[in-house]
Amino acid sequence: MKILIKNADAVLLDEVKRCDILIEDGVISRIGSISCPADRVIEASGKTVIPGIIDMHVHLREPGYEGKEDISSGCRAAVAGGVTQLCCMPNTDPVCDNAVVVNYIVNRAKEEGLCKVRPIGAITRGQKGESLADIGKMADAGAVALSDDGRSVMNSNIMRLAMEYASDFGLKCLCHCEDSALADGGVVNEGYNSTVCGLKGQLRAVEDIMISRDICLAQSLDLPVHICHVSTYSGVQIIRAAKANGVKVTAETCPQYFILTDDIITDFDTATKVNPPVREERDRLAVIEGLKDGTLDCIVTDHAPHAQKDKQVEYNLAAFGISGIETSFALSYTYLVKSGVFTLPQLMRRMSYNPARTLGLEGGQIAEGLPADLAIVDLGAEYVIDSSKFLSKGKNTPFNGYKVSGRVLKTFVDGEIKFDAEEL
Ligand code: DOR
Repeated sequence: MKILIKNADAVLLDEVKRCDILIEDGVISRIGSISCPADRVIEASGKTVIPGIIDMHVHLREPGYEGKEDISSGCRAAVAGGVTQLCCMPNTDPVCDNAVVVNYIVNRAKEEGLCKVRPIGAITRGQKGESLADIGKMADAGAVALSDDGRSVMNSNIMRLAMEYASDFGLKCLCHCEDSALADGGVVNEGYNSTVCGLKGQLRAVEDIMISRDICLAQSLDLPVHICHVSTYSGVQIIRAAKANGVKVTAETCPQYFILTDDIITDFDTATKVNPPVREERDRLAVIEGLKDGTLDCIVTDHAPHAQKDKQVEYNLAAFGISGIETSFALSYTYLVKSGVFTLPQLMRRMSYNPARTLGLEGGQIAEGLPADLAIVDLGAEYVIDSSKFLSKGKNTPFNGYKVSGRVLKTFVDGEIKFDAEEL
């Protein structure tokens, strides 16, 4: 099977290049000026080809919470967002803390045959923080990392053992940083707006203490660690200093932390409730600086779909989370590239290349010989985000009604078209 994409603006690692891309048997076989017979020729002049997004922080909810999302709906949403590879978090029911659940997810995703799904195994059994999960068996079954996402492993000795044991299998721990005692049920950022609204806040220290603890462990053990969804200016400072000291730390953030501030909580819309919470302007600006100077390596979504009944309750009772996988490219393009912070290649490094490098995954760039995981996008297309049109079951987003640029037109995984906006 040969597909020829003609006259595209292709986003390579350091430049955007007008070229043709030939895909043969699922692989990018040539980039350049190409005329040859092909089974399908796609004229892409005026359009941009980006490397498929690698979203290394996604909740697919299956098994157990299929009312919120399942592997089928989550993967359909992913490819609609230009995502070709995703890593899914283990806070399912049963928890993904053993090889049986890892195998189940891998096999279900293969049956769907949409994007590449890489399970993340739990660090501890049942994510209870008490004893290590079946790390070796999960690694053999295809887990690409470990995390107790949704909570921190509060016992530092267990976290130490996890980092040591994980490294024997070439896996990294992805740390959700939240000191549960200090969080004490807080639902938003602690500050002026939490006081005005009468909502219980979470200090920045809730996050920063655990970022520091996990960095201390990584430094003492000389092992790698990855910090999830960084939201605080002080967390960015801690990670920056650790990197300067040679600690093997990588980190990610999400669109909500570089676009929003906690001014949005004042109308009590539970779509704004997310953990860690959106914070203040100095945090938002520091997150952008962190992305710019490489302190924060990756942009992920923390795609956390919830059913309406989980969100249509009072703020204190609502579930934490934002359904983000269908909007991350357009939001990131609009707020980071159109606003002049990044060039498009710089953005795609953070959405595709760096996640691949962080977890040792395949792909992450448009280059000859690599899997043809890519998306054709129309950067000029402006539209208003309408969550009722999401393919995800989770319609929970604070970005509903936002005007963005950058529409995903087609998504290719291993050279096969898995999403085509024209067919919607
Ligand atoms: O807001 C969040 N929702 N943060 C997390 O860490 C977990 C996630 C979820 O699973 O819903």
